[in-house]
Amino acid sequence: MLKYPKQTSIHLFSFKLILMLWLGCFLHTSSLYAQQTGLITDKAMVVSAHPEASRIGKEILQKGGNAFDATVAVEFALAVAYPIAGNIGGGGLLVYRKNNGEIGALDYREKAPMKASRDMYLDAKGNAQDNLSQLGHLAVGVPGTVDGMLRLHKQFGKLPFKELIQPSIDLAQKGLIITEKEANNLNRFQDDFKKANKHAPHFINNTPWKTGDVLKQPDLAQTLTRIREEGRAGFYAGKTAEFLIKEMKKGGGIISQMDLDLYQAIWRRPVVGTYREHQIISMSPPSSGGILLLQMLEMLETYNLEKLGLHSAEMIQLITEVERRAYADRAKHLGDMDFYPVPIENLLDKKYLQQRMEDFSFEKAGNSTQTQAGSWSVSEETTHYSIVDAEGNAVSATTTLNGAYGSKVVVQGAGFFLNNEMDDFSIKPGFPNVYGLVGGEANAIAPGKRMLSSMTPTIVVKDGKLKMVVGTPGGSTIITSVLQNIIHVIDFGLGMQASVSSPRFHHQWLPDVIYVEEGSFDAATLQKLTQKGYKIQPRSGIGRVDAILVMPDGKLEGGADPRGDDAAAGF
Ligand code: GLY
Repeated sequence: MLKYPKQTSIHLFSFKLILMLWLGCFLHTSSLYAQQTGLITDKAMVVSAHPEASRIGKEILQKGGNAFDATVAVEFALAVAYPIAGNIGGGGLLVYRKNNGEIGALDYREKAPMKASRDMYLDAKGNAQDNLSQLGHLAVGVPGTVDGMLRLHKQFGKLPFKELIQPSIDLAQKGLIITEKEANNLNRFQDDFKKANKHAPHFINNTPWKTGDVLKQPDLAQTLTRIREEGRAGFYAGKTAEFLIKEMKKGGGIISQMDLDLYQAIWRRPVVGTYREHQIISMSPPSSGGILLLQMLEMLETYNLEKLGLHSAEMIQLITEVERRAYADRAKHLGDMDFYPVPIENLLDKKYLQQRMEDFSFEKAGNSTQTQAGSWSVSEETTHYSIVDAEGNAVSATTTLNGAYGSKVVVQGAGFFLNNEMDDFSIKPGFPNVYGLVGGEANAIAPGKRMLSSMTPTIVVKDGKLKMVVGTPGGSTIITSVLQNIIHVIDFGLGMQASVSSPRFHHQWLPDVIYVEEGSFDAATLQKLTQKGYKIQPRSGIGRVDAILVMPDGKLEGGADPRGDDAAAGF
C-alpha cells in the first residue's frame, strides 16, 4: 500500500504567495492601468492578458452582451493591445458552456497552406531548418481568428458585430499606452522585426520603446474597419487578402488566395472527463491539451495530493511522473484528427492510465528512456482569456501567433503580425520544435492539415454548476499549468488568485528535466528531488494563467496572472 510521506511545511510558500499577491495588486502597471488582480465581482467577469482587452470585454457585458459577444470583442482587442500574441494573423481554440449546460468547442486553429509539404523545412542533406519554421514568411499558417470570431458571433452573439469590433478600431486609431513589459518585449525583438520585414512596420522604433509610449496602428484600424464592413470578405478577400498575398510573394511565403478561400473554423466536441466529482471540459484535437489534461488527472486521482502537501518534493515528483507519461503519448499519438486517427478512447482508457503508473515509485526518479508512449493493438507566446457573463454562460479561449509576435512578419499595408504556427508541426520526426516538443507521423506536415497544439482552454463543473474557467499561454507548459491550477483549487482549496499567483513547475517527457520557476520553490524541496535523481532546471515564469472561480456564494473570483500585465474586470 502506498505510504504518504509527512506533510512538508508550507510557511515559506505562504509568505512568498502573500508577497507575490501584494506585488500583483499594487505594483505592476498600476500607474498606467487600473487594478488588475484579486478582483471579486457579483455577476460577470473577464480576465485577460491586457487591461484594455478586459475593459473592452467588461463594457460589452455591461451593455447587455453575452459571454460570446465579449469573447469576440476581447479577441479583437487583444489583436490591438497585446500584439505579442493577440492576433488576427493567427488562430485559437475555445471551449464554451452555456447556462443551460450545453457545451461545445470552436477550432479556429491555423492550417498548413496547400503548397506545404512534409519535408519543406529539410535541407538537401535532410537536416531540419527550424529557422524557416519559426521566423519569416515560410513559417506562417493560414490564419483562422477572423473566421472563428465571425462564426462564433453568428451562432451565439446578441449584440451587432459592429459594436463588438468598434472598440478595437478606436484603440488602434487612438493608440495604445505601452506598459513596461510590452516596451521590453518590443525592444527585445527589434532585430527580428527588421530581419523578417522589408518595410518598416509601426512596431519598429528608431529609439527604444519606453513605458508610456503610445503605439498607434492606423493600418490595423483600416483592416479591422474592412472586417467590420464586409465580415469574412474583409479579411479573406478584397484589399486585406491582396495585402497578405503580396506580402507572401515578397518574402517567399506560400499562402495563396485559394488557402484563404478554403479556410474554415470548425465546431468540435470538447473532451470531457471527471476528477474528484468535478466534470472537466477541455479542448479536443487539434490540441493535445484536453486529452493530456484528462490523462494526467486520471493518473493522479488515486493519490491523496493534499496529504503530500502543496509543492512538497513528493507532490512535485508525482506530478512530474504523470506529466512524463502523458507527454510521451503526445509525441507519438497526437495530431489533427481530420488527418490522423488519434486513438482518443485508448488514450483516455482508465485501465490503461492506471497501468501507466504501475512502475512509479516515490523512492526514485523515473526516466524518459524507459518511459515510452503507450501502445495498443491498433494503433510560448500565446494568450488566454476567461469570461463569465451575468447569465452564467462561460467561454474559455486561448489564441495564438505561436512564438512572440509569431513569424515577426507584419503584413505591409494591413498592419498585423502573421503567425509562425508551422513550427507546431513535427518538421522532422524526433526533431524538437521551439518548445522542445518532439513528434512523428501523427503531426507530420500535410497540405490543409492543422498543426498539433497544446492550448488547453478548460471549464470545470461541479454538481451541474459552473465552477471554474481556466487556461494559459506557454507552449508545451500550457497543459501542466492548467493541471496545476485545477489541482490547487480542487485538492488544496486555494482561491483563484492565490492559485494563479502560486509557483509552477513543468515536465514534458523530453528533455528529461523538471523546470521550476526560479526562486519560487523551497531549496530543501528541490534538493530532495535532486537526491532522488531528478534534474532540476530553473527558468523564468511559466505561463500566464487567467481564470475565474465561481465561489460558494455565487460571486466570481478572478485570477489574473501577476507574471504579466494581466487584468480582471467585471461587475
Ligand atoms: N502555438 C502553441 C500551441 O498551440 O500549442
